[in-house]
Amino acid sequence: MKEIVVEVEGLVKRYPPDIRAVDGISFSIRGGQVFSLLGPNGAGKTTTVEILEDLRTPTSGKIRVMGIDTTKEYSSIRKRVGTLPQNFEPFDMLKPTEAVEYWARLFDMQTTRKEIGELLDRVGLSERKNLMSKKLSGGEKRKLGIAMSLINEPELLFLDEPTTGLDPKARRDLWKLIEEIRGRGTTVFLTTHYLDEAEKLSDDVAIMHKGKIIARGSPSGLITQYGKTTVVVLEGVGLEGLNEVTRRGIEATESNGDVMVPVRNPTEMRTVFAKLSALELKVKDMYTRRQTLEDVFLGLVGTKMDEGVLQE
Ligand SMILES: Nc1ncnc2c1ncn2[C@@H]1O[C@H](COP(=O)(O)OP(=O)(O)OP(=O)(O)O)[C@@H](O)[C@H]1O
Ligand SMILES: [Mg+2]
Repeated sequence: MKEIVVEVEGLVKRYPPDIRAVDGISFSIRGGQVFSLLGPNGAGKTTTVEILEDLRTPTSGKIRVMGIDTTKEYSSIRKRVGTLPQNFEPFDMLKPTEAVEYWARLFDMQTTRKEIGELLDRVGLSERKNLMSKKLSGGEKRKLGIAMSLINEPELLFLDEPTTGLDPKARRDLWKLIEEIRGRGTTVFLTTHYLDEAEKLSDDVAIMHKGKIIARGSPSGLITQYGKTTVVVLEGVGLEGLNEVTRRGIEATESNGDVMVPVRNPTEMRTVFAKLSALELKVKDMYTRRQTLEDVFLGLVGTKMDEGVLQE
């Protein structure tokens, strides 16, 4: 087993007057893994990440990053950590080569143009390296941010929503890059709203909701633990459909206009179909599929958490 790189115990962050953005969370992350912190808007992800990056001060709790209590002496590990902030935007008037060079200087590094070129090549920006940053596309800007965050060859890399707003191709490019970074032994701390991304990339996942961690494990472990085996999808029935279905006592969630009904076994499947056939739903299409991490997430965050069942 690899050593523990991040250790958090009883972390609390309050904002005045009475927001408990982080409400007593504890977790640890092993080295060389991709750890994903998932949760809806306002769950407390960025607050947690930025406390670990020493950008915000915790209200209380214990933190150790690579064995160091960061609330006391962050400077000794600053050069071993890389960060891509949420909504990263590079300086408009700097070219990628200049931006990386500037960043390298902040780390007191004597980086040559050749090394910078190699880094930009690694993130897939070599053809754009001499273009003013304001002309880069959203995905290219994010790649530049990752290049900057890699300049010090960090052992631990924080990526706060690196793929938000990117098109599917740009997202997949970044997935490859994250896999490559992990392949070199860097521990990656990722936050994302894309559950397919988390399922594909992560070794370890924590689901955060209203400042608390409500589920923790590998993507497949979470699916086994909280998931049912199959999902019946009612395409395009929307929230109205969800209301109809739940009124009939069927457990269901809604996403992008589709309603998903999880079923555990053939008996449950028959019961669900009997109840559904009694409803007059305007279904575009209906099919079954295996459950994904997104289904687990929706189930946890959308229902059980509201009942206050799954507190850690
Ligand atoms: N500086 C601040 N002052 C007051 N409240 C804050 C501050 N920063 C964050 N919050 C609040 O704390 C809560 C958690 O915010 P945070 O940015 O950590 O969420 P998040 O999980 O990163 O959300 P998102 O997915 O939208 O990025 C939110 O309710 C937010 O409004
Ligand atoms: Mg955030």
